[in-house]
Amino acid sequence: MAVKPSRDKRRAARSSAAGSRPERREALAAKVRPDEDEGNPSDARARPHIIARPGAPLPAQTVPLILEVGPNDDYALLDSGDGEKLEQYGPYRIRRPEGQAIWGRALPAAEWEAIDAVFTGDIDEEGMGRWRFPAAPLGETWPMRHDGIDYLGRFTSFRHVGVFPEQASHWADMETRIRAANRPVRVLNLFGYTGLASLVAARAGAEVTHVDASKKAITWARENQEVARLADRPIRWICEDAAKFVEREGRRGKRYEVILLDPPAYGRGPKGEVWQLFEHLPSMVANCRAILADKPIALVLTTYSIRASFFAIHALMRDACAGLGGRVESGELVIREKAAGRALSTSLFSRWVRA
Ligand SMILES: C[S@@+](CC[C@H](N)C(=O)[O-])C[C@H]1O[C@@H](n2cnc3c(N)ncnc32)[C@H](O)[C@@H]1O
Repeated sequence: MAVKPSRDKRRAARSSAAGSRPERREALAAKVRPDEDEGNPSDARARPHIIARPGAPLPAQTVPLILEVGPNDDYALLDSGDGEKLEQYGPYRIRRPEGQAIWGRALPAAEWEAIDAVFTGDIDEEGMGRWRFPAAPLGETWPMRHDGIDYLGRFTSFRHVGVFPEQASHWADMETRIRAANRPVRVLNLFGYTGLASLVAARAGAEVTHVDASKKAITWARENQEVARLADRPIRWICEDAAKFVEREGRRGKRYEVILLDPPAYGRGPKGEVWQLFEHLPSMVANCRAILADKPIALVLTTYSIRASFFAIHALMRDACAGLGGRVESGELVIREKAAGRALSTSLFSRWVRA
């Protein structure tokens, strides 16, 4: 029978293979050159992010803050329970898995049966699955509207529908701030997906840079710009790894008044660059802070599907925004359900805003 080495021996073997921590940091730092734009992405990502608590005064804070989206003409969470949610997306009533809905349903079964689309199959967040259309066969897209902006809803293989309605709280706040600024505003939308935030910012008069790793998502976002009749608005659509893009903008001296950062827990850039939230978020936030303009307006971070508290991202953001003045507000984005008024939490957020 094989005998396992003791825990101490295993630890010693590991540390001699990887090098002790300071040695490893030096080795990693030596690998990274400041002008390595197209270099090995894994090298760039290995950049150590040792962020000491800064000496500059920390921003004021509001924590916890719960931002709610309620039922409206464009979208409503009708009911939830027994591991599912029932939603109205424009003309369609849609039923999808919802792991957090551990309570019972409020509406009768007939309401849950009178649906246009249901997502069945794997209930994993990123798992493949199937859409079924019980009433009549439906196309891949359908007309949707957000606060007067037309766009396309979309049945995707990941059970998403081309929009995350809970983000509307951030979009409304951003729009108000852009309009109130009364000066040119540059917005960077990282992990921008189908571009709703970019369209809201563009409508408010901002010059927008939208970054996403997925060509398909960029195509959908551009399509949405046409559908929204905002084709004449300045939006740069960039298919790139978000972390690499931000580092490069820093080196080029590019600056933004507003940065939106909505990363998945795990993702890949177009060249296979790995995004791991827990590993890469600290340096990403620091790099975003570095490319904020002299008179910044907001830096908005949302995270979801991770095992963490908003206190974690709050501390990260507050330290990163030391010296900026303003305020860091952190908490959860929730959707208020129509049937029984329960709050469905969708994500954590932390945002720095100008006072
Ligand atoms: C949940 S979506 C963001 C939602 C979006 N902010 C919204 O409100 O509609 C996550 C996006 O991150 C993109 N993504 C994943 N890894 C990436 C990476 N390394 N660089 C850039 N985008 C990435 C995905 O293609 C996806 O569109």
